[in-house]
Amino acid sequence: MLVKSGFLVCLPFAGVGTNAKNMNDQVVPTKHNKHMTLGQIADITPGLGTVMIEYGHRFYVAYYAAKAGNWGLAGYEIKEQTEIQEVGEATRPGHAEELKAFEHAYLDPIQAAIKAKDWNAFSARYAAAIEGCNGCHAGTGHGYIKYRLPTHAPESVPSVVW
Ligand code: HEC
Repeated sequence: MLVKSGFLVCLPFAGVGTNAKNMNDQVVPTKHNKHMTLGQIADITPGLGTVMIEYGHRFYVAYYAAKAGNWGLAGYEIKEQTEIQEVGEATRPGHAEELKAFEHAYLDPIQAAIKAKDWNAFSARYAAAIEGCNGCHAGTGHGYIKYRLPTHAPESVPSVVW
């Protein structure tokens, strides 16, 4: 009887795997800190501020790569930019739709110009994208974050020959 009621009590948990609270407290082994919970790991996933630092950097490198005629590098940077964007979409789902819309409206046309090795199209679309970046900053209450393209190519991008 005891076994049977125990089974019945456990059944709802068995059905969904584990409930959210239990999942959060689930301890998993990590290399340096052997007792982190899934909740603690979830709390340190990168937010949009962290993602945007890489997002902006790759966008910047793409410009000077294209300008130098290194279209392969430019395409790579924009592709990686959209990949770090996906991290932001996952950790900050409230902004996912805007980020996707931005990607389709601005980054896809830039990528098309890169494929066509068309500097004039690239630079016009790049300028439009900067407006889009700052439009989203203003629209999300971060109007004080005004992205401006640095006037010089990055001094060093590890392992990259311009
Ligand atoms: C979803 C709308 C959105 C789009 C599109 C967007 N951003 Fe952001 N960006 C944000 C938000 C929100 C923050 C502030 C993050 C926070 O509060 O954690 C931010 C912050 C930043 C920061 C400051 C990072 C820091 O903490 O130092 C930079 C740089 C940045 N964005 C660059 C860009 C660039 C470049 C683009 C376009 C290629 C862009 N962003 C497009 C929403 C956006």
